[in-house]
Amino acid sequence: MRPIVMVDLHSQYMAIKNDIDAAIQRVIDSTQFIKGQEVEAFEQELADYLNIPHVISCANGTDALMISLRALGIQPGDEVIVPTFTFIASAEVITLLGAVPVFADIDPDTFNIDTRQVESLITPRTRAIMPVHLFGLCADMEKIMHLAQKHNLYVIEDVAQALGATCNYNGKACKAGTIGHIAATSFFPSKNLGCFGDGGAIFTRDATLAYKARLIANHGAEKKYYHLMPGVNSRLDALQAAILRVKLPHLDEYISKRQAAAMQYHKLLAEVKSIQLPVSTPSHTFNQYTLIVKNGQRNTLQHYLQEKKIPTAIYYPVPLHLQPAFSYLKYSEGSFPVAERLSHQVISLPMHTELDEEQIGYIAKSVRDFLF
Ligand SMILES: Cc1ncc(COP(=O)(O)O)c(C=O)c1O
Repeated sequence: MRPIVMVDLHSQYMAIKNDIDAAIQRVIDSTQFIKGQEVEAFEQELADYLNIPHVISCANGTDALMISLRALGIQPGDEVIVPTFTFIASAEVITLLGAVPVFADIDPDTFNIDTRQVESLITPRTRAIMPVHLFGLCADMEKIMHLAQKHNLYVIEDVAQALGATCNYNGKACKAGTIGHIAATSFFPSKNLGCFGDGGAIFTRDATLAYKARLIANHGAEKKYYHLMPGVNSRLDALQAAILRVKLPHLDEYISKRQAAAMQYHKLLAEVKSIQLPVSTPSHTFNQYTLIVKNGQRNTLQHYLQEKKIPTAIYYPVPLHLQPAFSYLKYSEGSFPVAERLSHQVISLPMHTELDEEQIGYIAKSVRDFLF
């Protein structure tokens, strides 16, 4: 059996090595390292894939979120509702703009923002809701858009973990990130569509927001050395764009491979009473395969798997409202019981496009051996 890793980027690269190497060489030969044809072509190809008019690439997913919030005009003191159980970037950017993250608890089955709670968090200062499509599964966009329309709020979708996922919205299947006013994604190497370093993108249907996002990402300049507002330097390298152009046509196949691995885990772990399996809908892209260990043995299971040479990860060990970074918001233990409970119960198993049946069989058997 091949050694088990959390994310096997090497085998994924080997399968498309010739195309990737040629793309990298093409950029080096052109010496067009910043902006240029590769970046423009990638933005257009991603826009076509998502069926959305505007894609603005940038340096990483955190910048994509920050630029999206700025494009929406989020000001100091504005409140943005965001789940407490997510990667820090989702809430960090709100704080960095001087706005206020207003945390919400999550649904115990989907790990996504608990939409039943959102309405009670809306105040006269609320400007936006930021659903995070966690672990590859879309948040309940029907309910979120309904609330946003009712209260005149913006919706920023954090699609970092779910690029390529499909959400049901108004009876139609829409790509994650194409429903809200603006969306941000990441091309961090382990994401559904990962580059060979950092990268990110913003997408929107709104031409004005797209224009603003493009300005902000480029030092506030439409024309070189003429600055309409203070912006940032946030660009996707041409090398990363060229790599992403090779990988984008494989995205659906990569998602299918993740889904197939998830279905095999599901089958092999279905009988284990002390765990709850992730929800299985055809639209889940399984950026992570995350179990809930209900018998208090999450940490000992993790050690046991480590001894069996099976890496695992805890996403996330501390919900954001209990992180020192947000202590100034004065939340306390007990504020969000579901997220707090799950932070002690979740464990993510190896999940990537190159897992084979033997590896999944061994991982599932090890989980079963320990928990039965
Ligand atoms: C939910 C979520 N949002 C935002 C980000 C930020 O992306 P990046 O690491 O590219 O800045 C990540 C990355 O892990 C993420 O998982």
